[in-house]
Amino acid sequence: MDINVELKAIREVASELLVLGLCEGATPTEGPIGAIDKALGGALSELIRAGDMTGKAEQTALLYTRGAIPAKRVLIVGLGEPSRLTADVVRRAAATAAKAARQLRLARYHSTLYGLGGALGPAEVAQALTEGTILGNYSFTQHKSDLRDVLPTLEALTLVQADASAVAAVKQGASTGKIIAEAVCFVRDLVNQPANHLTPTMLAEAAEELANELGLRAEVLDEAQMAELGMGALLGVAQGSEEPAKFIVLEYNAERTDLAPYIIIGKGLTFDSGGLSIKPSEGMEAMKGDMAGAGATLGTLRAVAELRLPLRVVGLIPATENLPSGRAYKPGDVLKSMNGLTIEVISTDAEGRLILADALEYAKRYRPRAVVDLATLTGACIIALGHVAAGLMGNDPELVQALIKASAQSGEKVWELPLYDEYGEQLKSEIADIKNTGGRPAGTITAGLFLSKFAKDFPWAHLDIAGTASSDTEKGYIAKGATGWGVRLLVQWLRNIAETPGLN
Ligand code: BES
Ligand code: MN
Ligand code: ZN
Repeated sequence: MDINVELKAIREVASELLVLGLCEGATPTEGPIGAIDKALGGALSELIRAGDMTGKAEQTALLYTRGAIPAKRVLIVGLGEPSRLTADVVRRAAATAAKAARQLRLARYHSTLYGLGGALGPAEVAQALTEGTILGNYSFTQHKSDLRDVLPTLEALTLVQADASAVAAVKQGASTGKIIAEAVCFVRDLVNQPANHLTPTMLAEAAEELANELGLRAEVLDEAQMAELGMGALLGVAQGSEEPAKFIVLEYNAERTDLAPYIIIGKGLTFDSGGLSIKPSEGMEAMKGDMAGAGATLGTLRAVAELRLPLRVVGLIPATENLPSGRAYKPGDVLKSMNGLTIEVISTDAEGRLILADALEYAKRYRPRAVVDLATLTGACIIALGHVAAGLMGNDPELVQALIKASAQSGEKVWELPLYDEYGEQLKSEIADIKNTGGRPAGTITAGLFLSKFAKDFPWAHLDIAGTASSDTEKGYIAKGATGWGVRLLVQWLRNIAETPGLN
Protein backbone atom coordinates (compact mmCIF):
# COMPACT_ATOMS: atom_id res chain seq x y z
CA MET A 1 0.00 0.00 0.00
CA ASP A 2 1.28 3.48 -0.91
CA ILE A 3 1.45 6.18 1.72
CA ASN A 4 1.62 9.72 0.35
CA VAL A 5 2.03 13.02 2.13
CA GLU A 6 0.39 16.15 0.78
CA LEU A 7 0.76 19.77 1.88
CA LYS A 8 -2.69 21.29 1.53
CA ALA A 9 -5.48 23.07 3.36
CA ILE A 10 -7.87 20.38 4.60
CA ARG A 11 -10.97 21.99 3.13
CA GLU A 12 -9.41 21.97 -0.33
CA VAL A 13 -8.73 18.21 -0.44
CA ALA A 14 -10.45 16.44 -3.32
CA SER A 15 -11.11 12.84 -2.35
CA GLU A 16 -13.69 10.06 -2.19
CA LEU A 17 -13.18 10.13 1.57
CA LEU A 18 -11.53 12.45 4.07
CA VAL A 19 -10.91 11.15 7.61
CA LEU A 20 -10.91 13.37 10.69
CA GLY A 21 -10.44 12.51 14.36
CA LEU A 22 -12.57 13.74 17.26
CA CYS A 23 -11.82 13.55 20.97
CA GLU A 24 -14.53 13.05 23.58
CA GLY A 25 -15.87 16.35 24.87
CA ALA A 26 -14.32 18.34 22.00
CA THR A 27 -16.24 21.06 20.19
CA PRO A 28 -15.39 21.50 16.51
CA THR A 29 -14.18 25.06 16.66
CA GLU A 30 -10.55 24.92 15.63
CA GLY A 31 -8.05 22.92 13.56
CA PRO A 32 -9.08 20.72 10.63
CA ILE A 33 -12.33 19.68 12.26
CA GLY A 34 -13.30 23.33 12.83
CA ALA A 35 -12.55 24.21 9.21
CA ILE A 36 -14.62 21.30 7.91
CA ASP A 37 -17.50 22.03 10.30
CA LYS A 38 -17.64 25.59 9.04
CA ALA A 39 -17.49 24.49 5.41
CA LEU A 40 -20.30 22.01 6.00
CA GLY A 41 -22.50 24.67 7.62
CA GLY A 42 -22.18 23.26 11.15
CA ALA A 43 -23.04 19.65 10.25
CA LEU A 44 -20.37 18.28 12.61
CA SER A 45 -21.48 20.48 15.50
CA GLU A 46 -25.01 19.24 14.97
CA LEU A 47 -23.89 15.62 14.94
CA ILE A 48 -22.15 16.16 18.28
CA ARG A 49 -24.97 18.18 19.80
CA ALA A 50 -27.45 15.48 18.87
CA GLY A 51 -25.30 12.98 20.76
CA ASP A 52 -24.86 10.84 17.63
CA MET A 53 -21.10 11.22 17.75
CA THR A 54 -19.43 11.57 21.15
CA GLY A 55 -15.81 10.96 20.12
CA LYS A 56 -15.67 7.70 22.03
CA ALA A 57 -12.67 5.67 20.89
CA GLU A 58 -13.27 3.95 17.56
CA GLN A 59 -16.80 5.31 17.16
CA THR A 60 -17.37 6.49 13.58
CA ALA A 61 -19.75 8.79 11.71
CA LEU A 62 -19.96 9.19 7.96
CA LEU A 63 -21.19 12.37 6.29
CA TYR A 64 -21.81 13.21 2.64
CA THR A 65 -20.63 16.70 1.86
CA ARG A 66 -22.90 17.24 -1.16
CA GLY A 67 -20.53 19.61 -2.89
CA ALA A 68 -19.77 21.89 0.08
CA ILE A 69 -16.11 20.84 -0.10
CA PRO A 70 -14.20 18.91 -2.81
CA ALA A 71 -14.09 15.77 -0.61
CA LYS A 72 -17.16 13.64 -1.30
CA ARG A 73 -17.42 12.01 2.14
CA VAL A 74 -16.12 12.85 5.59
CA LEU A 75 -15.50 10.12 8.16
CA ILE A 76 -15.17 11.18 11.79
CA VAL A 77 -13.41 8.65 13.97
CA GLY A 78 -13.50 8.83 17.75
CA LEU A 79 -10.24 9.21 19.72
CA GLY A 80 -11.60 8.89 23.28
CA GLU A 81 -10.58 11.11 26.16
CA PRO A 82 -7.88 13.66 25.27
CA SER A 83 -5.90 12.79 28.43
CA ARG A 84 -5.62 9.18 27.27
CA LEU A 85 -4.60 9.94 23.70
CA THR A 86 -1.54 7.80 22.87
CA ALA A 87 0.05 6.57 19.66
CA ASP A 88 -1.82 3.31 20.15
CA VAL A 89 -5.17 5.15 20.18
CA VAL A 90 -4.22 6.75 16.85
CA ARG A 91 -3.12 3.37 15.50
CA ARG A 92 -6.45 1.79 16.45
CA ALA A 93 -8.46 4.71 15.04
CA ALA A 94 -6.52 4.45 11.77
CA ALA A 95 -7.35 0.75 11.53
CA THR A 96 -11.02 1.56 12.16
CA ALA A 97 -10.92 4.15 9.37
CA ALA A 98 -9.20 1.71 7.02
CA LYS A 99 -11.86 -0.90 7.72
CA ALA A 100 -14.61 1.66 7.04
CA ALA A 101 -12.96 2.65 3.75
CA ARG A 102 -12.71 -0.99 2.72
CA GLN A 103 -16.39 -1.48 3.53
CA LEU A 104 -17.12 1.46 1.22
CA ARG A 105 -15.05 -0.44 -1.37
CA LEU A 106 -12.67 2.49 -1.82
CA ALA A 107 -9.13 1.90 -3.04
CA ARG A 108 -7.72 5.18 -1.73
CA TYR A 109 -8.62 7.99 0.61
CA HIS A 110 -7.20 10.97 2.50
CA SER A 111 -6.66 11.46 6.17
CA THR A 112 -5.83 14.39 8.40
CA LEU A 113 -3.17 13.92 11.07
CA TYR A 114 -5.45 13.43 14.05
CA GLY A 115 -4.08 13.12 17.57
CA LEU A 116 -1.50 15.87 17.11
CA GLY A 117 -0.59 18.06 20.05
CA GLY A 118 -0.35 16.86 23.62
CA ALA A 119 2.36 14.23 23.84
CA LEU A 120 2.37 13.32 20.16
CA GLY A 121 4.43 15.09 17.51
CA PRO A 122 3.86 14.94 13.74
CA ALA A 123 6.38 12.12 13.14
CA GLU A 124 4.82 9.91 15.82
CA VAL A 125 1.28 10.56 14.61
CA ALA A 126 2.23 9.88 11.00
CA GLN A 127 3.96 6.64 12.02
CA ALA A 128 0.98 5.45 14.11
CA LEU A 129 -1.52 6.41 11.38
CA THR A 130 0.50 4.57 8.76
CA GLU A 131 0.93 1.48 10.92
CA GLY A 132 -2.75 1.31 11.88
CA THR A 133 -3.85 1.73 8.26
CA ILE A 134 -1.52 -0.90 6.79
CA LEU A 135 -2.19 -3.36 9.62
CA GLY A 136 -5.95 -2.79 9.30
CA ASN A 137 -5.69 -3.46 5.57
CA TYR A 138 -4.25 -6.95 6.10
CA SER A 139 -5.92 -10.15 5.01
CA PHE A 140 -4.53 -13.60 4.23
CA THR A 141 -6.18 -14.75 1.02
CA GLN A 142 -3.47 -16.77 -0.70
CA HIS A 143 -5.39 -20.04 -0.53
CA LYS A 144 -8.87 -18.66 -1.33
CA SER A 145 -10.24 -18.90 -4.85
CA ASP A 146 -13.39 -16.88 -4.18
CA LEU A 147 -12.64 -13.42 -2.86
CA ARG A 148 -16.19 -12.07 -3.03
CA ASP A 149 -16.69 -12.37 0.74
CA VAL A 150 -13.34 -10.78 1.54
CA LEU A 151 -13.17 -7.00 1.95
CA PRO A 152 -11.17 -5.43 -0.89
CA THR A 153 -7.77 -4.08 0.07
CA LEU A 154 -6.69 -0.47 -0.09
CA GLU A 155 -4.09 0.81 -2.52
CA ALA A 156 -3.15 4.19 -1.11
CA LEU A 157 -3.54 6.57 1.79
CA THR A 158 -2.68 10.26 1.55
CA LEU A 159 -1.84 12.09 4.76
CA VAL A 160 -2.84 15.73 4.46
CA GLN A 161 -0.94 18.34 6.38
CA ALA A 162 -1.63 22.06 6.16
CA ASP A 163 1.48 23.16 8.05
CA ALA A 164 4.55 23.26 5.79
CA SER A 165 6.97 23.14 8.72
CA ALA A 166 5.71 19.70 9.77
CA VAL A 167 5.87 18.02 6.36
CA ALA A 168 9.40 16.64 6.71
CA ALA A 169 8.57 15.03 10.07
CA VAL A 170 5.33 13.61 8.67
CA LYS A 171 7.17 12.09 5.71
CA GLN A 172 9.79 10.57 7.98
CA GLY A 173 7.17 9.12 10.35
CA ALA A 174 5.11 7.73 7.48
CA SER A 175 8.15 6.07 5.94
CA THR A 176 9.17 4.47 9.27
CA GLY A 177 5.59 3.34 9.88
CA LYS A 178 5.34 1.79 6.43
CA ILE A 179 8.56 -0.17 6.87
CA ILE A 180 7.50 -1.49 10.28
CA ALA A 181 3.89 -2.31 9.35
CA GLU A 182 4.89 -4.09 6.15
CA ALA A 183 7.39 -6.16 8.13
CA VAL A 184 4.56 -7.08 10.53
CA CYS A 185 2.36 -8.15 7.60
CA PHE A 186 5.25 -10.20 6.23
CA VAL A 187 5.38 -12.02 9.59
CA ARG A 188 1.60 -12.53 9.60
CA ASP A 189 1.82 -14.18 6.18
CA LEU A 190 4.53 -16.58 7.37
CA VAL A 191 2.71 -17.47 10.59
CA ASN A 192 -0.66 -17.95 8.87
CA GLN A 193 0.95 -20.21 6.28
CA PRO A 194 -0.06 -23.88 6.76
CA ALA A 195 2.72 -26.27 7.70
CA ASN A 196 2.58 -28.08 4.34
CA HIS A 197 3.34 -24.74 2.68
CA LEU A 198 6.03 -23.77 5.17
CA THR A 199 8.41 -26.55 6.16
CA PRO A 200 11.76 -25.81 7.83
CA THR A 201 13.34 -25.96 4.36
CA MET A 202 10.86 -23.44 2.99
CA LEU A 203 11.35 -21.19 6.02
CA ALA A 204 15.09 -21.27 5.32
CA GLU A 205 14.39 -20.40 1.67
CA ALA A 206 12.20 -17.48 2.77
CA ALA A 207 15.09 -16.27 4.95
CA GLU A 208 17.55 -16.57 2.07
CA GLU A 209 15.21 -14.70 -0.24
CA LEU A 210 14.88 -11.92 2.33
CA ALA A 211 18.65 -11.82 2.68
CA ASN A 212 19.05 -11.46 -1.09
CA GLU A 213 16.56 -8.63 -1.27
CA LEU A 214 18.11 -6.71 1.61
CA GLY A 215 21.78 -7.55 1.28
CA LEU A 216 21.92 -9.55 4.53
CA ARG A 217 24.36 -12.37 5.14
CA ALA A 218 22.51 -15.68 5.30
CA GLU A 219 23.73 -19.10 6.30
CA VAL A 220 21.60 -22.22 6.69
CA LEU A 221 23.08 -25.14 8.62
CA ASP A 222 21.89 -28.64 7.75
CA GLU A 223 21.56 -31.55 10.16
CA ALA A 224 25.11 -32.79 9.51
CA GLN A 225 26.49 -29.38 10.46
CA MET A 226 24.27 -29.29 13.55
CA ALA A 227 25.58 -32.72 14.56
CA GLU A 228 29.12 -31.45 14.08
CA LEU A 229 28.35 -28.59 16.48
CA GLY A 230 26.78 -30.97 18.99
CA MET A 231 23.24 -29.59 18.78
CA GLY A 232 21.80 -32.73 20.35
CA ALA A 233 18.72 -31.03 21.78
CA LEU A 234 17.57 -29.57 18.46
CA LEU A 235 18.38 -32.81 16.62
CA GLY A 236 16.49 -34.82 19.23
CA VAL A 237 13.31 -32.86 18.51
CA ALA A 238 13.86 -33.12 14.74
CA GLN A 239 14.32 -36.90 14.83
CA GLY A 240 10.63 -37.77 14.46
CA SER A 241 10.10 -35.78 11.27
CA GLU A 242 10.86 -36.63 7.64
CA GLU A 243 11.50 -32.95 7.03
CA PRO A 244 15.11 -32.04 7.72
CA ALA A 245 15.74 -29.45 10.43
CA LYS A 246 17.45 -26.17 9.52
CA PHE A 247 19.41 -23.73 11.61
CA ILE A 248 19.05 -20.31 10.02
CA VAL A 249 21.55 -17.50 10.59
CA LEU A 250 20.84 -14.02 9.24
CA GLU A 251 23.16 -11.09 9.77
CA TYR A 252 22.60 -7.40 9.17
CA ASN A 253 25.78 -5.32 9.00
CA ALA A 254 27.73 -8.60 9.15
CA GLU A 255 30.91 -6.90 7.98
CA ARG A 256 30.85 -4.57 11.00
CA THR A 257 32.87 -6.99 13.11
CA ASP A 258 33.98 -4.00 15.19
CA LEU A 259 30.47 -3.97 16.71
CA ALA A 260 29.20 -6.55 19.21
CA PRO A 261 25.87 -7.67 17.79
CA TYR A 262 22.34 -7.67 19.14
CA ILE A 263 20.91 -11.14 18.62
CA ILE A 264 17.28 -12.13 18.11
CA ILE A 265 16.45 -15.82 18.44
CA GLY A 266 13.08 -17.14 17.22
CA LYS A 267 11.47 -20.50 17.91
CA GLY A 268 10.85 -22.06 14.50
CA LEU A 269 8.53 -25.03 15.00
CA THR A 270 6.79 -25.10 11.62
CA PHE A 271 4.44 -27.64 13.19
CA ASP A 272 4.17 -28.88 16.78
CA SER A 273 2.04 -32.00 17.18
CA GLY A 274 3.55 -32.54 20.61
CA GLY A 275 5.47 -35.55 19.32
CA LEU A 276 4.86 -38.80 21.22
CA SER A 277 3.45 -36.71 24.09
CA ILE A 278 0.87 -35.87 21.47
CA LYS A 279 -1.50 -32.92 21.75
CA PRO A 280 -5.29 -33.29 21.65
CA SER A 281 -6.49 -33.23 18.03
CA GLU A 282 -8.94 -30.40 18.72
CA GLY A 283 -7.20 -27.16 17.89
CA MET A 284 -3.97 -28.84 16.82
CA GLU A 285 -4.13 -26.95 13.51
CA ALA A 286 -3.15 -23.81 15.41
CA MET A 287 0.29 -25.34 15.90
CA LYS A 288 1.21 -24.32 12.34
CA GLY A 289 1.84 -21.00 14.07
CA ASP A 290 4.48 -22.37 16.43
CA MET A 291 7.12 -20.55 14.37
CA ALA A 292 5.81 -17.08 15.24
CA GLY A 293 9.08 -16.34 17.07
CA ALA A 294 10.99 -17.23 13.91
CA GLY A 295 8.64 -15.01 11.90
CA ALA A 296 9.17 -12.07 14.26
CA THR A 297 12.92 -12.57 13.98
CA LEU A 298 12.79 -12.38 10.18
CA GLY A 299 10.41 -9.41 10.30
CA THR A 300 12.64 -7.53 12.72
CA LEU A 301 15.73 -8.07 10.57
CA ARG A 302 13.81 -6.92 7.54
CA ALA A 303 12.67 -3.69 9.21
CA VAL A 304 16.07 -3.02 10.78
CA ALA A 305 17.75 -3.40 7.40
CA GLU A 306 15.21 -1.17 5.63
CA LEU A 307 15.57 1.46 8.35
CA ARG A 308 19.35 1.15 7.98
CA LEU A 309 19.91 1.20 11.74
CA PRO A 310 23.58 1.68 12.56
CA LEU A 311 23.78 -1.55 14.57
CA ARG A 312 24.93 -5.09 13.92
CA VAL A 313 21.97 -7.42 14.32
CA VAL A 314 21.94 -11.22 14.05
CA GLY A 315 18.88 -13.47 13.74
CA LEU A 316 19.08 -17.13 14.76
CA ILE A 317 16.28 -19.56 13.96
CA PRO A 318 16.29 -23.21 14.94
CA ALA A 319 13.63 -24.69 12.63
CA THR A 320 12.04 -28.12 12.75
CA GLU A 321 8.78 -30.04 12.99
CA ASN A 322 7.81 -31.96 16.13
CA LEU A 323 6.13 -35.19 15.07
CA PRO A 324 5.63 -38.69 16.45
CA SER A 325 7.13 -41.53 14.43
CA GLY A 326 9.13 -44.73 14.84
CA ARG A 327 12.22 -42.57 14.92
CA ALA A 328 10.87 -39.88 17.21
CA TYR A 329 12.51 -38.94 20.51
CA LYS A 330 10.72 -40.40 23.50
CA PRO A 331 9.78 -39.37 27.03
CA GLY A 332 12.64 -40.50 29.22
CA ASP A 333 15.30 -39.96 26.57
CA VAL A 334 18.36 -38.01 27.60
CA LEU A 335 19.69 -35.46 25.09
CA LYS A 336 23.03 -33.71 25.19
CA SER A 337 22.81 -30.04 24.32
CA MET A 338 25.50 -28.06 22.54
CA ASN A 339 26.73 -26.50 25.80
CA GLY A 340 27.23 -29.95 27.33
CA LEU A 341 24.26 -29.99 29.72
CA THR A 342 22.27 -33.23 29.55
CA ILE A 343 18.49 -32.97 29.45
CA GLU A 344 15.98 -35.59 30.52
CA VAL A 345 12.95 -35.38 28.24
CA ILE A 346 9.83 -35.68 30.37
CA SER A 347 7.46 -34.40 27.69
CA THR A 348 8.25 -34.37 23.99
CA ASP A 349 5.76 -31.49 23.83
CA ALA A 350 8.18 -29.23 25.71
CA GLU A 351 10.29 -29.08 22.53
CA GLY A 352 10.63 -25.32 22.11
CA ARG A 353 13.01 -24.87 25.03
CA LEU A 354 15.14 -27.73 23.66
CA ILE A 355 15.74 -26.16 20.28
CA LEU A 356 16.24 -22.75 21.89
CA ALA A 357 18.86 -24.19 24.26
CA ASP A 358 21.14 -24.99 21.32
CA ALA A 359 20.46 -21.64 19.68
CA LEU A 360 21.39 -19.80 22.90
CA GLU A 361 24.66 -21.71 23.04
CA TYR A 362 25.33 -20.88 19.38
CA ALA A 363 24.74 -17.18 20.17
CA LYS A 364 27.71 -17.21 22.55
CA ARG A 365 30.24 -17.26 19.68
CA TYR A 366 29.25 -13.70 18.74
CA ARG A 367 30.03 -12.27 22.20
CA PRO A 368 26.70 -10.45 21.84
CA ARG A 369 25.76 -7.15 23.38
CA ALA A 370 22.36 -8.66 24.21
CA VAL A 371 20.22 -11.63 23.19
CA VAL A 372 16.42 -11.61 23.05
CA ASP A 373 14.48 -14.75 22.21
CA LEU A 374 10.84 -14.92 21.14
CA ALA A 375 8.91 -18.16 21.43
CA THR A 376 5.37 -19.48 21.47
CA LEU A 377 6.64 -21.47 24.41
CA THR A 378 3.91 -22.28 26.93
CA GLY A 379 0.14 -22.67 27.09
CA ALA A 380 0.57 -21.51 30.69
CA CYS A 381 1.47 -18.03 29.41
CA ILE A 382 -1.97 -17.79 27.78
CA ILE A 383 -3.54 -18.75 31.11
CA ALA A 384 -1.49 -16.09 32.92
CA LEU A 385 -1.63 -13.15 30.50
CA GLY A 386 -4.20 -14.09 27.85
CA HIS A 387 -3.65 -12.71 24.35
CA VAL A 388 -2.93 -9.20 25.66
CA ALA A 389 0.66 -9.24 26.94
CA ALA A 390 3.73 -11.36 26.36
CA GLY A 391 5.59 -12.89 29.29
CA LEU A 392 8.98 -11.24 29.78
CA MET A 393 11.85 -12.81 31.71
CA GLY A 394 15.57 -12.15 31.73
CA ASN A 395 18.89 -12.17 33.52
CA ASP A 396 19.73 -8.48 33.09
CA PRO A 397 17.55 -5.77 34.69
CA GLU A 398 18.81 -3.10 32.29
CA LEU A 399 17.82 -5.13 29.24
CA VAL A 400 14.44 -5.97 30.77
CA GLN A 401 13.82 -2.27 31.48
CA ALA A 402 14.83 -1.32 27.94
CA LEU A 403 12.27 -3.79 26.58
CA ILE A 404 9.58 -2.50 28.94
CA LYS A 405 10.26 1.04 27.68
CA ALA A 406 10.05 -0.07 24.03
CA SER A 407 6.85 -1.91 24.86
CA ALA A 408 5.19 1.27 26.14
CA GLN A 409 6.33 3.17 23.05
CA SER A 410 5.29 0.54 20.53
CA GLY A 411 2.00 -0.54 22.11
CA GLU A 412 3.05 -4.21 22.22
CA LYS A 413 2.48 -5.11 25.86
CA VAL A 414 4.83 -7.20 28.00
CA TRP A 415 4.74 -8.24 31.66
CA GLU A 416 7.76 -9.37 33.60
CA LEU A 417 7.69 -12.69 35.46
CA PRO A 418 10.31 -13.58 38.09
CA LEU A 419 13.02 -16.20 37.54
CA TYR A 420 13.45 -16.95 41.25
CA ASP A 421 15.94 -19.72 42.06
CA GLU A 422 13.27 -21.59 44.03
CA TYR A 423 11.49 -22.56 40.81
CA GLY A 424 14.66 -24.44 39.84
CA GLU A 425 13.66 -27.30 42.19
CA GLN A 426 10.97 -28.23 39.66
CA LEU A 427 13.56 -28.84 36.94
CA LYS A 428 15.83 -31.19 38.90
CA SER A 429 16.36 -34.53 37.21
CA GLU A 430 17.23 -37.85 38.86
CA ILE A 431 19.39 -39.00 35.98
CA ALA A 432 20.47 -35.98 33.96
CA ASP A 433 21.53 -32.35 34.60
CA ILE A 434 18.05 -30.96 34.07
CA LYS A 435 14.52 -32.02 33.05
CA ASN A 436 12.66 -30.36 30.20
CA THR A 437 9.44 -29.78 32.15
CA GLY A 438 8.69 -28.53 35.64
CA GLY A 439 5.07 -29.61 36.03
CA ARG A 440 1.99 -27.36 36.00
CA PRO A 441 2.84 -24.72 38.61
CA ALA A 442 4.41 -21.60 37.08
CA GLY A 443 4.82 -23.33 33.71
CA THR A 444 5.91 -20.15 31.92
CA ILE A 445 8.53 -19.37 34.54
CA THR A 446 10.03 -22.88 34.66
CA ALA A 447 10.33 -22.74 30.86
CA GLY A 448 12.12 -19.38 31.18
CA LEU A 449 14.31 -20.74 33.94
CA PHE A 450 15.23 -23.72 31.76
CA LEU A 451 16.37 -21.30 29.03
CA SER A 452 18.35 -19.24 31.56
CA LYS A 453 20.66 -22.24 32.12
CA PHE A 454 21.77 -21.85 28.51
CA ALA A 455 22.03 -18.04 28.55
CA LYS A 456 24.74 -17.57 31.13
CA ASP A 457 27.30 -15.47 29.31
CA PHE A 458 25.41 -12.47 28.00
CA PRO A 459 22.52 -10.16 28.84
CA TRP A 460 19.46 -12.14 27.83
CA ALA A 461 15.69 -11.73 27.79
CA HIS A 462 12.95 -14.15 26.84
CA LEU A 463 9.53 -13.24 25.45
CA ASP A 464 6.85 -15.92 25.71
CA ILE A 465 4.51 -14.98 22.86
CA ALA A 466 2.20 -18.02 23.00
CA GLY A 467 -0.75 -15.70 23.67
CA THR A 468 0.14 -12.56 21.74
CA ALA A 469 1.21 -14.25 18.48
CA SER A 470 -2.36 -15.05 17.55
CA SER A 471 -5.83 -13.66 18.08
CA ASP A 472 -9.23 -15.42 17.86
CA THR A 473 -10.95 -12.17 16.95
CA GLU A 474 -10.24 -9.19 14.79
CA LYS A 475 -9.79 -6.09 16.92
CA GLY A 476 -8.60 -2.73 15.60
CA TYR A 477 -5.26 -3.23 13.91
CA ILE A 478 -4.94 -6.76 15.34
CA ALA A 479 -5.91 -9.30 12.71
CA LYS A 480 -7.69 -12.56 13.36
CA GLY A 481 -5.11 -15.36 13.21
CA ALA A 482 -1.48 -14.33 13.20
CA THR A 483 -0.79 -10.90 14.72
CA GLY A 484 2.86 -10.51 13.70
CA TRP A 485 3.64 -9.68 17.35
CA GLY A 486 7.20 -8.68 18.28
CA VAL A 487 8.41 -6.68 15.30
CA ARG A 488 7.11 -3.36 16.59
CA LEU A 489 8.54 -3.93 20.05
CA LEU A 490 11.97 -5.11 18.92
CA VAL A 491 12.38 -2.48 16.23
CA GLN A 492 11.53 0.20 18.79
CA TRP A 493 14.05 -1.31 21.21
CA LEU A 494 16.76 -1.29 18.54
CA ARG A 495 15.87 2.22 17.38
CA ASN A 496 16.21 3.42 20.98
CA ILE A 497 19.66 1.81 21.15
CA ALA A 498 20.69 3.31 17.81
CA GLU A 499 19.68 6.78 19.08
CA THR A 500 21.61 6.46 22.35
CA PRO A 501 25.27 7.38 21.90
CA GLY A 502 27.65 4.75 23.19
CA LEU A 503 25.18 1.87 23.11
CA ASN A 504 25.81 0.55 19.61
N1 BES B 1 3.94 -24.63 21.27
C1 BES B 1 3.51 -25.05 22.54
C2 BES B 1 2.95 -23.91 23.40
C3 BES B 1 1.70 -23.26 22.88
C4 BES B 1 0.45 -23.70 23.28
C5 BES B 1 1.78 -22.18 22.02
C6 BES B 1 -0.69 -23.09 22.80
C7 BES B 1 0.62 -21.57 21.55
C8 BES B 1 -0.60 -22.02 21.93
C9 BES B 1 4.68 -25.67 23.32
O1 BES B 1 5.59 -26.37 22.54
C10 BES B 1 4.11 -26.65 24.28
O2 BES B 1 3.53 -27.61 23.84
N2 BES B 1 4.28 -26.40 25.57
C11 BES B 1 3.79 -27.26 26.59
C12 BES B 1 4.84 -27.38 27.65
C13 BES B 1 4.51 -28.41 28.70
C14 BES B 1 4.56 -29.78 28.11
C15 BES B 1 5.50 -28.28 29.83
C16 BES B 1 2.50 -26.66 27.13
O3 BES B 1 2.41 -25.45 27.27
O4 BES B 1 1.57 -27.43 27.39
MN1 MN C 1 5.03 -28.37 22.23
ZN1 ZN D 1 5.77 -25.77 20.62
